[in-house]
Amino acid sequence: MLSLRLLSALACGFSLAAAAIVPHDNHDHAPTPTRLPTQWYHSEDHHAHALFKRAPSDGANYPALGSPEWRAPYPQSTPDPNALPKQWVDALNAAVAAGKIPNIPPTTSTGNNNPVYPNGMDPMSDQVCSTTYKCRKNRDVMWDAPDGTFAISFDDGPQPASNRLYDFLQDHNEKATHFFIGVNILNNPNEFRTAFEVLEDDIAVHTWTHPHMTTLSNLDLLGQFGWTMDIIHKSTGGRLPRYWRPPYGDSDNRVVAIAKEVFGLTTVIWNQDTSDWSIPSGGTTNEAVQKSMTQWLTGPKKPGLMVLEHELYNQTVQAFIDAYPLIKSNGWKTISVAQINGDSYQNSHDSDSAVQRVDGIFVNAPLPSSSSSSSSKSLSSSTTSSGSTSFGSTTSSMSTTSAGTSLPASPTPPGTSLQQGNGAVPLFGASATTVVAGFFVVLSSLILC
Ligand SMILES: *[C@@H]1O[C@H](CO)[C@@H](O)[C@H](O)[C@H]1NC(C)=O
Repeated sequence: MLSLRLLSALACGFSLAAAAIVPHDNHDHAPTPTRLPTQWYHSEDHHAHALFKRAPSDGANYPALGSPEWRAPYPQSTPDPNALPKQWVDALNAAVAAGKIPNIPPTTSTGNNNPVYPNGMDPMSDQVCSTTYKCRKNRDVMWDAPDGTFAISFDDGPQPASNRLYDFLQDHNEKATHFFIGVNILNNPNEFRTAFEVLEDDIAVHTWTHPHMTTLSNLDLLGQFGWTMDIIHKSTGGRLPRYWRPPYGDSDNRVVAIAKEVFGLTTVIWNQDTSDWSIPSGGTTNEAVQKSMTQWLTGPKKPGLMVLEHELYNQTVQAFIDAYPLIKSNGWKTISVAQINGDSYQNSHDSDSAVQRVDGIFVNAPLPSSSSSSSSKSLSSSTTSSGSTSFGSTTSSMSTTSAGTSLPASPTPPGTSLQQGNGAVPLFGASATTVVAGFFVVLSSLILC
């Protein structure tokens, strides 16, 4: 609160200073407000929004990023499989009935060991094809970058550590794909905004709470994919992510099929792993990471490099920053993972392109019987004209359903983490958003004074 007052005072001071040197219309100036506004952001239709760069959207009126309305539908932790939107369950059941989801039992994961299938089932078999065990037989899974390219991506964001990475990426004009964790989006909406709106980077799915996906039931998988898909959809002007990466690289034919058939997601693994995430715990060192990177970057350019890296800690960000000059000096072409196959999203080319409005977030899924087919439309960019590619519900009914389910989540009370995450304080933090924040201060002077 104090900071907001300070911001207001600074902004008004700035405005008065500006008024002294800028010819000024003789209109009445509203007096300095004697109390703070009840919300820190303006509603979506406020004229101030027009002054900021906005990515093109599908025209729907989504809740402002970080607002209580935006936050309300989502689980705070592991999604409850009994509180899923009906459309997701219907779409799964239809895909199962159509024989598209292999009937593979969930694994058991014990500590640091690889997940194990029951009854001695072979993870490398054609039926299972576990990516944890490096089975590459499923053609729906991406492992490599195109020859000669270094595909840039980061897992586990958005995080406070992301800000330094975003400054670096922006300074070097590099596009990356961010495999974001749903609960991290809830906790770090400002970093999300920077990645999507300022960097115009590609946002992809890294599940809601980062589990070993092969250990989960089909319904648990729906929650992990669906909520992450939904929050990205509503936070990017209606875009549908096209890619997901399994935590720990743990996936199999069942998980890959649910991602694809219910949500239209392509599974992405990697072909080199720095283990950068274990630097803080002493599992590896920055020196060891640089040694591996040097070896790969000076090696053959076929296939291209798809290196697993994280925006998790300052140290993992540093590891990428240190290796970056080698990528360039060895002649690698850099590309965002999501741009390897053209469109970064299922219904938009990238963060800066038009968005095709979709009715709900179901792709390649038969229509649930309860839904009116007249309101659905197919997505031309990702399919043939087949009637099977359509979206199961309207966007508005999707929102209603999400908000209406009995989730453990409740709107964050004002004054708690919401304020911390989105209040005036971060505007003073030096970060990739500094320029935007500075602009906001100037803008505030026009609005608050
Ligand atoms: C991150 O690491 C760099 C390099 O070691 C250091 O200069 C910087 O202060 C660190 N930043 C934070 C926030 O810890």
